Amino acid sequence: MSSSTSHLIAPHGGTLINLVSDPERIQELKAHSCEWPSWDLTGRQVCDLELLMSGGFSPLAGFMKQGDYQSVCHNMRLESGVLWPMPITLDVKEEFAQSLKPGSSQIALRDPEGVMLAVLHVEDVWQPDREAEAKAVFGTTSAAHPGVDYLLNKSHSWYVGGRIEGTQAPSHYDFRSLRLTPAELRAEFARLGWRRVVAFQTRNPMHRAHVELTFRAAKQVEANLLIHPSVGMTKPGDVDYFTRVRCYQLLLSKFPQGTVKLSLLPLAMRMGGPREAIWHALIRKNHGATHFIVGRDHAGPGKDQNGKPFYGPYEAQELFKKHEADIGVTMVPFNMMVYLEDQGYYVPDNEVPNGSRVLNISGTELRERLNEGREIPSWFTYPEVVTELRRSFPPRHKQGVTIFFTGLSGSGKSTIANVLLTKFLEMGGRPVTILDGDLVRKHLSSELGFSKEHRDINIRRIGYVASEITKNGGIAICAPIAPYDTVRKQVRSMVEPVGGFILVHIATPVETCEQRDRKGLYAKARAGIIKEFTGISDPYEGPKDAEVSINTTDLTPEEAAQEILLHLEREGFIGVNGSNG
Ligand code: PPS
Repeated sequence: MSSSTSHLIAPHGGTLINLVSDPERIQELKAHSCEWPSWDLTGRQVCDLELLMSGGFSPLAGFMKQGDYQSVCHNMRLESGVLWPMPITLDVKEEFAQSLKPGSSQIALRDPEGVMLAVLHVEDVWQPDREAEAKAVFGTTSAAHPGVDYLLNKSHSWYVGGRIEGTQAPSHYDFRSLRLTPAELRAEFARLGWRRVVAFQTRNPMHRAHVELTFRAAKQVEANLLIHPSVGMTKPGDVDYFTRVRCYQLLLSKFPQGTVKLSLLPLAMRMGGPREAIWHALIRKNHGATHFIVGRDHAGPGKDQNGKPFYGPYEAQELFKKHEADIGVTMVPFNMMVYLEDQGYYVPDNEVPNGSRVLNISGTELRERLNEGREIPSWFTYPEVVTELRRSFPPRHKQGVTIFFTGLSGSGKSTIANVLLTKFLEMGGRPVTILDGDLVRKHLSSELGFSKEHRDINIRRIGYVASEITKNGGIAICAPIAPYDTVRKQVRSMVEPVGGFILVHIATPVETCEQRDRKGLYAKARAGIIKEFTGISDPYEGPKDAEVSINTTDLTPEEAAQEILLHLEREGFIGVNGSNG
């Protein structure tokens, strides 16, 4: 029997692109590469390159040139007339762009380790109007939109377009058996005899509602199901894909045997709503899918600064419908699934019988329940998924936390930090590290002085170490002076994505510190022997964002430490009955 892929849906534009060169050509390109400039690809660019090379972005055979770019931005089509909604461009620094000669330059495109993944034959170099791009593609220039924020604030200001010859696909060491290229997935469908395949895109863990939705979709169009999560770059703050993939794997047994396939897509999402829905479908078409599920608020970027959603909840479905013939993939539209409490099953929200009570748990509420260790009901998700999520998102009293002191020399930071250390050791359960100002200067920052620049470097180092400790579930107690607000905020933003961050201002007035003068430094500062001394001859910016503020003038160190412990308890960072294990 033949296992030819000819019964499968044709790729977009007719031919499945494969940009990986043959071994001889790869040797040739590698040999020449030392003569070419190198570009170190960003995370997003590695994702885009991978899908260009594997044919996930067929019919594209390289990064877009200006003609295609303009046409895609304004007409949603390539110059050839083929529908394509998303610019796929290589953004580079101005200086680098100006060193290139269109028509004759080649660039070695390298991964972050320096491995050459592909050669770009430079055909076009230009400075795009990125605001106009944002408006055309995303319908807004608001940086509250993650796609726009990336475009305007994180991408480089020049674009390079041209044909690509691939030398090596980006390396992945995780979930290798689940990372199928379009050709591999097509071969698998042919082998299994799957001619009708409905694909489901997701960037979230899947719960009962998603299983119900995908199962219904597959039954409705009599197709097999491809669960095709994006694992490249998704919306900042999303659940990491390692956790998600473990959850997806657990869910496979909820579907009838042999009807569903899980494969991971290395896609860097743009959160572009309606245009992105079409793009997603074209990518799935290249992977062999004939149908594509478009739910409520597909690839939604969230809300703008006034709390208004950037796109209507069903705008993606509307745009898809308009272009369905050109897309060549049948849309399977779905409303949001909600749980009917009395009947005990899920229905789309437009099929809810009058007067029925419906239940739903939002992503935010799920996060809160996990943080607080509260119950997650079985109507919402499966016990094995809850267990998996709890492993990755333990309640706060098991998460890492940074307690970051700031205050003048002699304000009491180190003493209180040491009392706190002892209290945590008494409780047990989490490893604790002190990063005291003097100790850090001895072990991490011995070459630094006390200029603003050096102080900021010092604080960033402390922040980096604290974020690593926090990420790994420990408690980091930092006790530098940290006189500058901006760098303190930087540290907060390094730590908060990986655990708790509590800023404690030891607000003891300079007069009290000077009176105490435990190390005799104030006397030296007054005498001009020590220069740039904080509070005397150097500035101290008192924080406005401290979670706890303590003036030690009339407090013992124990009392000060108690203030902090009570705050930690209130925020859930210390467990019930004093246990933090
Ligand atoms: S900073 O600004 O956060 O980088 O300072 P930090 O690393 O906490 O270092 C402060 C300790 O260094 C001693 N010291 C000085 N402090 C402030 N200004 C000047 N010019 C200075 N020179 C030396 C002082 O002992 C500080 O320790 P603490 O524990 O704060 O008293």
